[in-house]
Amino acid sequence: MASVLEIKDLHVSIEGKEILKGVNLTIKQGEIHAIMGPNGTGKSTLSSAIMGHPKYEVTQGEVLLDGENVLEMEVDERAQAGLFLAMQYPSEISGVTNADFLRSAINSRREEGQEINLMQFIKKMDKQMDFLEMDPDMATRYLNEGFSGGEKKRNEILQLMMLEPKFAILDEIDSGLDIDALKVVSKGINEMRGENFGCLIITHYQRLLNYITPDHVHVMMQGRVVKSGGEELAQRLEAEGYDWIKQELDIQDEAAE
Ligand SMILES: Nc1ncnc2c1ncn2[C@@H]1O[C@H](COP(=O)(O)OP(=O)(O)OP(=O)(O)O)[C@@H](O)[C@H]1O
Ligand SMILES: [Mg+2]
Repeated sequence: MASVLEIKDLHVSIEGKEILKGVNLTIKQGEIHAIMGPNGTGKSTLSSAIMGHPKYEVTQGEVLLDGENVLEMEVDERAQAGLFLAMQYPSEISGVTNADFLRSAINSRREEGQEINLMQFIKKMDKQMDFLEMDPDMATRYLNEGFSGGEKKRNEILQLMMLEPKFAILDEIDSGLDIDALKVVSKGINEMRGENFGCLIITHYQRLLNYITPDHVHVMMQGRVVKSGGEELAQRLEAEGYDWIKQELDIQDEAAE
């Protein structure tokens, strides 16, 4: 049966300030959702809170993966349960190679005795790196250390393809990519697309959605999902910006509240 990720009335504060003010969103496996929205409206906060970043305090609501509240799980349990986050700014880890990181990430998601063996791992990694047109040297370099912005993003997609999560949240996976890299990253996401994968793509640009057709597009403003639609919504935002939504919903600028 297809898994479901349900975000219900999620309120999140950072250092006492409420950033998310009741987010509702349901993603089923097989679906690709896109979230767009002005800077500072809480898109990255949503992904960090779901993955359990300690700075983000959930004050109300729940996030259910097949009915189980992931907010009650330890951070590593969330990944083991099948959630994956590609961060807007991926961290660098010195002293850990990309390959070692990936292999232990895969094995930490498996039962004891079911670990991927070294040969299987190398074969799979070679195949995916080739698919993503990555330089083989990237496997033995320290994770993200000295990677260019675009290389980090491509590497996030490598992690996605190696880990094969149930659900992925991809935060600005398209930012800073050249045109060829954008195509490769999109190719990776489209390769993952299928009945065992659900995805939430956070993006500012409709351009990415020319390559990955979303099933649903949502607009986040001031800590809430204020509008949902199909890909035509992304096209309208690209052409007209956000003012028309503010007018339609009578949303005042935050400073004027
Ligand atoms: N660690 C933090 N400490 C203090 N404030 C924070 C922190 N993280 C986020 N914020 C604030 O929360 C608000 C929402 O930030 P968030 O990063 O979620 O926005 P965003 O929608 O992802 O924006 P962008 O499109 O620019 O990436 C902003 O006002 C930001 O300054
Ligand atoms: Mg962000």
